[in-house]
Amino acid sequence: MSAPEAAARLPALAQSVAAPLTRAAIFLVATLNPGSDNRATLRSFCGDLAALLRAVEFRDLEGGLSCVIGFGSDAWDHLFGAPRPAELHPFREIRAGERHAVSTPGDLLFHIRAKRMDLCFELATQFMARIGNAVSPVDEVQGFRYFDDRDLMGFVDGTENPRGAAAIDAVLIGEEDAAFAGGSYVIVQKYLHDLEAWNALSTEAQERIIGRTKLSDIELDDSVKPTSAHSTLTTIVENGKEIKILRDNMPFGRPGHGEFGTYFIGYSRSPRTIEQMLENMFVGRPPGNYDRLLDFSRAVTGNLFFVPSATFLENVTEDLTIEDQPAIAESPAAPAVAETSSSVPSVRDGSLGIGSLKGDIRHE
Ligand code: HEM
Repeated sequence: MSAPEAAARLPALAQSVAAPLTRAAIFLVATLNPGSDNRATLRSFCGDLAALLRAVEFRDLEGGLSCVIGFGSDAWDHLFGAPRPAELHPFREIRAGERHAVSTPGDLLFHIRAKRMDLCFELATQFMARIGNAVSPVDEVQGFRYFDDRDLMGFVDGTENPRGAAAIDAVLIGEEDAAFAGGSYVIVQKYLHDLEAWNALSTEAQERIIGRTKLSDIELDDSVKPTSAHSTLTTIVENGKEIKILRDNMPFGRPGHGEFGTYFIGYSRSPRTIEQMLENMFVGRPPGNYDRLLDFSRAVTGNLFFVPSATFLENVTEDLTIEDQPAIAESPAAPAVAETSSSVPSVRDGSLGIGSLKGDIRHE
């Protein structure tokens, strides 16, 4: 087998969706400005993204810099045309009583993570220097880790995230959409909290809303945990199997402005899982038995993005022509990313940052 043939048979290299939780992150959502020049800028940026990331990452290899880029449904059509990821659609808003999961504009998401904010900041700056004229920023949040991985409501956030092979299995598309294997879906929502009202509750009342103890972060016993607890409503079981998502929520805020928030970000191999969680939270399971966290938290943004594999991005060229369609999206024979935990060692994790993407096999 020739080297190019061998390379073509390698599974798609994922972006670094399953990167470890970090101390700092930037969440940048932007819309794509109209015009073919802007589309060309974005397409050529896709191919260069890994090199830009390497350049900033190399300045501090201990810094754990990583970046995930996602595309909204309309942007996908404009930038890449057909074929499109099977489950990509605009974020579906939900209204129920006083609760509203809003759907807001957003064609592109950058989720930049590192141990230090300066690295995230530098990468975002370099990205915008490249594509700034082609996009319009809609929302930009700098998140930080707060004490023992707590959110600003005081609870440890992230405990029940899947780890290792289970995380890969939860987030990466496999053979169910083989042309987009190694991709993922991501939903983001920016929440603002009414901390004054929340802090007026007793610790026990807060614990019943979250479903875990506040100080020690232990799950409440079923005998005392209400069916409306956040951790109950976000537990999805299908055919006896729990379907997990991967979250990397971050606190953010401006104390001087009384702004205290949680940036929710959830990755999943199908958006249906997170959409079901949102329905349980906002409408309730059964309807009316909603998540009381929402009496103290208001969603002010809401987007769904598709996260193509790093291999897909690498193959994007400046012009959108039939011939130039990214190979992985075109070729039905493109090998799928390993789907099950047992075959996970062949999954290529997408830390975009180190070395060449071509033929560079790395494991979680
Ligand atoms: C106001 C925003 C939110 C806050 C402050 C928040 C906070 C928390 C906390 C403290 C936990 C318990 C510890 C843990 O396992 O991580 C948790 C669990 C969880 N949350 Fe959230 N969350 C928010 C929004 C969401 C949203 C929008 C979703 C999904 C649509 C979600 C999905 C989950 C899941 C899947 C779990 C784990 C449940 C389990 O397996 O026990 N969260 N969240």
